[in-house]
Amino acid sequence: MSINKKFPILHTKINGHDLVYFDNAATTQKPQVMIDALVEFYQKYNANVHRSLNPLADTATQKYEETRLVVADFLSAKKQEIIFTRNTTESINLVAKTFGRGFLKAGDVVLLSIAEHHSNIVPWLQLKEEIGIKLEYISLDKNGYLDFEAAKKILDNKKVKFLSIQAASNVFGSIHDYREILKLAKAKNIFTLLDVAQIAGHESINVQELACDFLVFSAHKVFGPTGVGVLYGRKDLLQMMPAFLGGGEMIDRVLKDNFTSAELPHKFEAGTPNIADVIAFKSSLDFIKNLTWDYIQKIEQELTDYLWQEMLKLDFIDIYGQNISGRHLPIISFNLKNAHAHDVAEILGEQAIIVRAGQHCTQILHESLGVPATVRVSLTIYNTKKEIDILIKNLKLIYNKFKV
Ligand SMILES: Cc1ncc(COP(=O)(O)O)c(C=O)c1O
Repeated sequence: MSINKKFPILHTKINGHDLVYFDNAATTQKPQVMIDALVEFYQKYNANVHRSLNPLADTATQKYEETRLVVADFLSAKKQEIIFTRNTTESINLVAKTFGRGFLKAGDVVLLSIAEHHSNIVPWLQLKEEIGIKLEYISLDKNGYLDFEAAKKILDNKKVKFLSIQAASNVFGSIHDYREILKLAKAKNIFTLLDVAQIAGHESINVQELACDFLVFSAHKVFGPTGVGVLYGRKDLLQMMPAFLGGGEMIDRVLKDNFTSAELPHKFEAGTPNIADVIAFKSSLDFIKNLTWDYIQKIEQELTDYLWQEMLKLDFIDIYGQNISGRHLPIISFNLKNAHAHDVAEILGEQAIIVRAGQHCTQILHESLGVPATVRVSLTIYNTKKEIDILIKNLKLIYNKFKV
């Protein structure tokens, strides 16, 4: 069975056209197995978790915790080191607002890169306002990769206490040399966070092999439901950190004057969690595991090569962060000469070709590119060369329309 048969939405028509979904860096579509798991929860064992002693709650709790085990396995982490949040954004906020508030002080440098998603900039800017940390930014080389030498220079010369970087760019698709930069930071006893929101569905991640203290991603970008994020944190650090939100679930004892926090991981999961979606997320990870990384990477490499090959033939587009020889996700950002990115995305949308236009939550990066917006095409395993041909054909039509 071809892979796209497993994703029901891909067989939708818009304006009479077959859907071509090329916005996978924003969110991926969902396999039927995940949708079934979600429905099954509400139909068969909807109950709150960790609280009641009854068969429904037992099943819900067991399934919820099974997902934690599968996520731990996905990252080669320990179960207590996996915290469920709402998304990557909340995971980073959790670290900035607990570890950052607790263990950083005025004048300490937090090192980011200019390519970070706003979710890995704004929480640190908030901490800057709050306690006076300083921010430094690693620049990119001409091909859209984190500049290793620039990173080294800052790490050698500034009082860096925390490094928080992405593994891959959501605009260029460039997979950075993040392993080496993390190692460099660790050698200097700098705390590290790796944002794997973009690579989590594309290659395997092993926190034992990475010099990172924290790692974050969102389920919805790896064929999972919305509303579930993952924070991996080193156990000793999570234990030291104060709790994030306060309320039910996250406490051990509550007295009139104080409280004690629950053990990990519950200490960081206040209130009723997103039970249904966490449970359904297991199906997405099982789905990836069954496909195997080799299969996923083979398909994606073919798609990436073909996409670049065909896009480079177009002499009326500017591609940003261009380097076909480096390690790449199937993502490309570009502009058509004479046409605004928003117009291009809108016209493609009328043909049921779904792409993203704008700044992709990376204003600092777009400022460095000197363009107000770009069109982003991002593919994954269920996309096809035929769909790329449809895109190319439509880009030519749009260009001819806008040609002066
Ligand atoms: C690299 C990167 N980090 C963080 C995020 C934020 O993810 P979320 O909106 O799920 O919190 C995104 C989303 O596009 C991303 O691409």
